[in-house]
Amino acid sequence: MPHPSRAHLDAIGIPVWVRRGVARAARRAEAPRIEVPRATAAITVPAAQVLETIDAQVRDCRKCGLHRERTHTVFGVGRPDAACMFIGEAPGAEEDARGEPFVGRAGKLLDAMLAAIGLGRGDVYIANIVKCRPPRNRDPHTDEITACSGYLKRQIEAVSPRLLVAAGRVAAQSLLSTTKPIGQLRGRSFRYGEDRLPVLVMYHPAYFLRSPLEKRKAWDDLVRLRSMLSDHAASAP
Ligand code: URA
Ligand code: SF4
Repeated sequence: MPHPSRAHLDAIGIPVWVRRGVARAARRAEAPRIEVPRATAAITVPAAQVLETIDAQVRDCRKCGLHRERTHTVFGVGRPDAACMFIGEAPGAEEDARGEPFVGRAGKLLDAMLAAIGLGRGDVYIANIVKCRPPRNRDPHTDEITACSGYLKRQIEAVSPRLLVAAGRVAAQSLLSTTKPIGQLRGRSFRYGEDRLPVLVMYHPAYFLRSPLEKRKAWDDLVRLRSMLSDHAASAP
């Protein structure tokens, strides 16, 4: 007589005892397969959302003495995923009044300089080394720059531009951790941070307001900027 199969015995109501390990193995074989990803994919938060979070922290910040006389903090403006990020020094009176960078006279000139190479404010991202206005527009002190630097670092990471433009001595020296004079830095490119992000150093637009005859240098810098941006666009994946 052929050996009864398990199905036959089940069918006629005879309980079938199976060794535990075997039962577990059978269940495992029948269980639906659940795919567990080997590595959890990084969750990407949109740049605009990250920037809003940092901006909210800056609005509440009292890490340095500059918070005392500010009307508004001045965080940044422009395209959250811009390829090109401009970094100035510190808010002036109009920026402090409005909470937006580069809206005074130097800002109007910056707009004109950008327009000369076909860029509008909305195409780039604009921020400053410190987010609160120093009294009487004095240069920010080293301890104030250091206190504020974490916000700028995170801001650069969020925007993740292909190119940083340091406008003026304070921005250039802070970003590049150097004390070299602007004359030795301007018009040249350097690298910033672990990602070795290219940094182009330019004169500050306020310099051209004071020395209009030097505007030719602004044009040279803009030509350099335009060519660096098109090189990076061409080599983008
Ligand atoms: N100068 C700067 O460096 N930043 C501004 O926002 C305005 C003027
Ligand atoms: Fe904070 Fe920067 Fe303003 Fe100082 S300048 S209070 S560190 S946001």
